[in-house]
Amino acid sequence: MKLLTILAIASAMAASSTAFASEDMAKKHGCLVCHDASAKKIGPTWKTIAAKLKGNKDAEKIITETLAKGSKGVYGTIPMPPQPKAAADAPAMAKWIMTH
Ligand code: HEC
Repeated sequence: MKLLTILAIASAMAASSTAFASEDMAKKHGCLVCHDASAKKIGPTWKTIAAKLKGNKDAEKIITETLAKGSKGVYGTIPMPPQPKAAADAPAMAKWIMTH
């Protein structure tokens, strides 16, 4: 029982520190110019993206590919330009986006 509580707290802490790191990454790579957790900007919100890809086992791959190649026509008429500088952080950011 106690061990379970400790495990639960530890995993909650791990999850929140990942979220924090990735918010910084999103800021660093300029994603927040076009994306926000819940406010509609040029691009879809993280919540919209996470809801759309929820349950899709390829979600992280799709997000990583979007960063490498850009995307158009999925959410609207405005295209997303490729983000090659974010490639190294793409897997971490993909996981983080899916937590919204
Ligand atoms: C110039 C504005 C702009 C920037 C900068 C930008 N995006 Fe986007 N993003 C968009 C738009 C617009 C779309 C919707 C494209 C579409 O409809 O296909 C989008 C779509 C996405 C999607 C959805 C992909 C899918 O197929 O479901 C993800 C994930 C995403 N962006 C992540 C990011 C991340 C992470 C960054 C930073 C490295 C970033 N974006 C930077 C404008 C931007």
